[in-house]
Amino acid sequence: QSLLFNLLLTNNRILLVSQEASMDEGDVSPLRRFVVAKKKISALFDELPAVATLTAFLSLAETRRSEDLEEIADEDQEAQIQADARKVSVIKEVLSRRQMKVAFFGRTSNGKSMVINAMLWDRVLPTGIGHTTNCFLSVEGTDQERAYLMTEGSEEQKSVKTVNQLAHALHMDHSLDSGSLVRVFWPKSKCALLRDDLVLMDSPGTDVTSELDSWIDRFCLDADVFVLVANSESTLMNTEKQFFHKVNERLSKPNIFILNNRWDASVLEPEYVEDVREQHVERCVNFLVEELKVAEHEQALERIFFVSAKEALNSRMQRAQGMPECGGALAEGFQDRMKEFQSFERTFEECISRSAVKTKFEQHTMRARQITESVKAIMDAINIASAKKKVLLLERRESQMDQLEFVRNQINLLTEDIKKKIKSVAEDVEAKVSRAMMEEIRHLSALVNDFHGDFHPSPQVLLLYKRELLRHVEEAVGKNLAFRCSGAINSSVQKSQKDMTDSLLPLVPPAVRNQLHALLPRRTLELRYDLNCAALCTDFREDIDFHFSLGWTALVNRFLGPASAKKVLETVDHSFQVCCPGSTVTHPLQSTPPLCSREEEILLSLATGLASLTSRTSMSVVVIGGLVSRAVGWRLIALSLGLYGLLYLYERATWTTKAQERVLRRQLVEYATQRLQMIVSITSANCAHQVQQEMGAILAWLCQKVDLSQEELEGETQRLTARIQRLEAVQSCSRALRNKASYLDTQLEQFSDQYLQTP
Ligand code: GTP
Ligand code: MG
Repeated sequence: QSLLFNLLLTNNRILLVSQEASMDEGDVSPLRRFVVAKKKISALFDELPAVATLTAFLSLAETRRSEDLEEIADEDQEAQIQADARKVSVIKEVLSRRQMKVAFFGRTSNGKSMVINAMLWDRVLPTGIGHTTNCFLSVEGTDQERAYLMTEGSEEQKSVKTVNQLAHALHMDHSLDSGSLVRVFWPKSKCALLRDDLVLMDSPGTDVTSELDSWIDRFCLDADVFVLVANSESTLMNTEKQFFHKVNERLSKPNIFILNNRWDASVLEPEYVEDVREQHVERCVNFLVEELKVAEHEQALERIFFVSAKEALNSRMQRAQGMPECGGALAEGFQDRMKEFQSFERTFEECISRSAVKTKFEQHTMRARQITESVKAIMDAINIASAKKKVLLLERRESQMDQLEFVRNQINLLTEDIKKKIKSVAEDVEAKVSRAMMEEIRHLSALVNDFHGDFHPSPQVLLLYKRELLRHVEEAVGKNLAFRCSGAINSSVQKSQKDMTDSLLPLVPPAVRNQLHALLPRRTLELRYDLNCAALCTDFREDIDFHFSLGWTALVNRFLGPASAKKVLETVDHSFQVCCPGSTVTHPLQSTPPLCSREEEILLSLATGLASLTSRTSMSVVVIGGLVSRAVGWRLIALSLGLYGLLYLYERATWTTKAQERVLRRQLVEYATQRLQMIVSITSANCAHQVQQEMGAILAWLCQKVDLSQEELEGETQRLTARIQRLEAVQSCSRALRNKASYLDTQLEQFSDQYLQTP
C-alpha cells in the first residue's frame, strides 16, 4: 500500500514539475529553459532511485531470503538493480551541480572583466588598464544577501563588500597564480542573470600564460559557450587564435562568440567605421568558419558582435541608480552599440541554454532510459516468475487442503468403527472370563483338596488355616483363569490393535507412517481378576462341632431338609421358651397366629417326612424294632438302645480333627462356590473393562498421531498461504514498479523530444 501511495505521490510530483515548467516556458529569459529542463530531469531522476531502492528492497533484501524468491529473482538481476541504483545516485549528484557555464577569453585589457560586469549590471570584477585579472574568476549566484568568495581547497567563505576589496584580496593572496580559481558568489537578488544557474568565468589574458593546455583541461571542458573578447582597435592576435585552436581540438564544435569590444573607439574615426567593421567581420568569420570550422557562414555572422562593454556597464549602472541611462556626454552610436550588446546577450542566452540542456542532460536522459528499460525487463521477469510460482503453490495448497479434509472425515468414520470393534472385543472377553470362572468354580473342591495345611480346631489355628486355604484358592483360581483366558485375550487384543493401526495408517504423517507399528506402545495386557476370596468369605462360619447322625437335629434335618429343619428347631426352641415358667409372656394376639400356621407347616412336614420314613434305613430299624419289641419285648429295646449308644460312641470316636478338617473344607467349598458365583458377572465385566481401557488408550495414541498429521497439514497450508500472499505482494509491487518505469520512460521520451532534439 505504501509503495502504491509512493508511486502515486511521485507521479503527482512529476506532474507538478511539468505544470510549473510549462508556466515557466512563457518566461522571457531563454536561460529559464535550462533551469526548467534541469528541474524536470532531476524530478525524473528523483523517482529513479525510488524505483531502484524499492526494487532492491522488495525483490532482494526481503524476498531473496525466502525460498520462493530465490527462484524468481536471480543474483544477476539483483546485481543489475543495485548497479542501476548506484548509477542513479551518482547521476543525481552530478545533475544537482549542473550549471550553464560561459567562459571569457582574450588578450589582456581587451575588457573581459568589463564585459562580465556589463552583463551583471554591476562592478563585480575588478577592471583596469594593464594586466588586471591574475587568476580564473568564476561568478555565480548565491541565495545569501552578501557577496563572498571561496578559493580552491578551502571551504571558507570570505566576505567581499566592494569590487576594490575583491581586487585587493586577489592581489594580496600570493598563493594565487594564473592557473588557480577563485569563485565569486554574487547575491542573486542583485542580478537577474545569476538566478538561472549561470556561471560566468573570467580569465587572465591569453597572452600572459604559457599554460593554455592546463587551463583548457581545468576550466574549459565543461563550458557551454566561449566568448572571445577581442579588441576592435586591433586585429585578432595569434595568441587568441591559438587558444581557441586548442579548445577546438579538445571539444567538438564549441560554441564560440566573438565580441569586438571597445567599439566606442570607432567614433573617433567615423569615416572608416564600416570598413573596419567589415574587415573585422571578414576575419572573424574566416576564423570561425575556415580555421576552426565550428560554424557555418550564416551562423558565424550571428555570433560576431561590435560592442562597448564600458558604455554598457556605465549606462546600466546609472539606470540602476535611477539616473537617465544616457546621462553624460555619450559617444555617437551609443544606442546602436547598446542594442548590439543586448542582442549579444539574447543570442548568447539562447545559445547557451539550448546547448547546455543538450550537452548536460542528453547523456543522463539516455542513462535514465536505459535504467527504466532494465527495471522494466527485470520487473516483467519477476512478475512472470512470481505468477508461475504462485500457481504452483496454489495447486499445492489445494491438494494439502483436500488431504486435510480427507483426514478429518476419515478419522471420524474410522474412530466410530474402531469403537464398535473394541466393544465387541470387550464383550467377547466378558463371555470368555465368565465361562472360565464358572468352570473354575465347578472344580473348586479339587482345588481345596490340593491344599495342605496344619489343621486344629482351636480358634487361632483355625483362623490361620482358613486364611491360608482361602489364599491358596484365590491363587489357584487366578492362575487357572489366567491360563485359560489371558493368552487368548491378549492375542485378540493384539490383533485388534494391529487392525486399528493398519486402518489409521494412511492418516498419520508420512514421516511416522513407516515406524508406526514400531512406535506402538506394545505391552502384554495383564488381566487382573481381583477375586479377593478373603473378603468374599469373611462371613463364612464353619460348623465343626460334633453332630450325632441319629440326634434330634440331624433327624429333623434329614427328614425335613435343612430349611424346614431350621424352622422346626427354632419353633421348638420357641415353644419351649413360652412354656417355661418365668419366661417372658408374649401377647397372645401377636404370637398365636404365626405359631398356628407354623404348627400346621410342621405337621405337614412331619406327615410328608413320615411318609418317606419307610425308605430310611435307620427308621426302618426303629419300626422293625417296635414290631420286634412286641414280639421280643424289652430285650430288643435294650438291644436297640445299646446299639444306638454304640453307634453314638462310634461316631463320637471317629469325630477326629481329620474329619473336622474335611467338614470344614466341604463347608468352605459350598460357601465359596456360592459367593464366587455371585461375582462372576462383576469380574468378567471388570476384565472387559480392562481390555476396553487398554484398547482405548491405544486408540487415543493413534488419534494423537493423526492429530499430528492434521496439525502438520494445517501448518503447511498456512505456510503456503503466507508464501502465496508474499508472492502476490511481490507480483503487485513488480507490476506497480513496471508501470512506474514505463511512466518514467514516457516522461523521459517527452523530455527528450522537448529539449534534446536539434532544431
Ligand atoms: P585583464 O584582466 O588584465 O586580462 O584585462 P581585461 O581583459 O579584463 O580588461 P579590463 O576589463 O580590465 O579592461 C581593461 C581596460 O580597458 C580598463 O581600463 C577598461 O576601462 C578599458 N575598457 C574596457 N572595455 C572598454 C570599452 O568598451 N571601451 C573603452 N573605451 N575602454 C574599455
Ligand atoms: Mg580582467
